[in-house]
Amino acid sequence: MTRLSSNHLLGLKELTPDDIELIFETADNFKAILNRPIKKVPSLRDITIANVFFENSTRTKISFELAEKRLSADIVNFSSASSSVSKGETLIDTVNNILSMKVDMVVMRHPAPGASLFLSKNVNAQIINAGDGTHEHPTQALLDAYSIREEHSTLKGKKVVIVGDILHSRVALSNIYCLQKLGAEVAVCGPSTLIPKFIGALGVKVMHNLQEAIEWCDVANMLRIQMERQQTKYFPSLREYTMQYGLTMKHLNALNKEITIMHPGPINRGVEISSEVADSGQSIILNQVENGVAIRMAVLYLLAAQRES
Ligand code: CP
Repeated sequence: MTRLSSNHLLGLKELTPDDIELIFETADNFKAILNRPIKKVPSLRDITIANVFFENSTRTKISFELAEKRLSADIVNFSSASSSVSKGETLIDTVNNILSMKVDMVVMRHPAPGASLFLSKNVNAQIINAGDGTHEHPTQALLDAYSIREEHSTLKGKKVVIVGDILHSRVALSNIYCLQKLGAEVAVCGPSTLIPKFIGALGVKVMHNLQEAIEWCDVANMLRIQMERQQTKYFPSLREYTMQYGLTMKHLNALNKEITIMHPGPINRGVEISSEVADSGQSIILNQVENGVAIRMAVLYLLAAQRES
């Protein structure tokens, strides 16, 4: 297979296992290029990409920009904080104005679930979802699964637990779809108030005890508490959350095996993960960030190839 099954990247729900394998194989090639002295290739030299961010981002925004520059695309960056959105302009008007300047692809982060799908149906450009509210964050899940594959050779049969604020996490939902499509077993762990009621329908194991969860898994993906999306209190205090669900060396030292520790970032050190764990040899947090550039290059390259056929 040499083509993706979709012209946009909106979520992992829509991707097939073959799509994911194609992205990984393409990322393998780009990762080799990124380790060369000259990291740039001319693949997207005729393509203009707008990075449209209605929410803050460090990793995703920089990673997409680097991926685009390494592929020789022309890029424009838009951030809602410094734009005319504050004067009442709609999403479609904003993006159509950008597109009228001859933009081919839009990488968008937006606080509303479904914003990328909405855009893909209403503007004439390829859309890449860089995180839509609590819904999906597809390139994060792809880079997470790619990093597990790099560490463990395969996803098939691997046990992955996602710990923390599952209710508000787009990373959790995209990871669940992606990992299951690649044959991994997935569990979520956290207080019941932070686990969505629909989770059982996704075929995911639900756990509430952190020590039991890490005894079960090969990989633990620790998530931060998304305070900015919480309108109500889901647990008594951050201190109590940390006592129940903050991962420390004490948890890891009690195991008779070595598990892989992941985190999509940003990390809240001392809350969901201790500094010792985040900086330990078991942590692949910075490998995830590094792999993000190769994965995003692969996604951009494959989507651009769809345009020509
Ligand atoms: N992982 C992630 O999406 O981080 P940013 O919010 O910094 O992009």
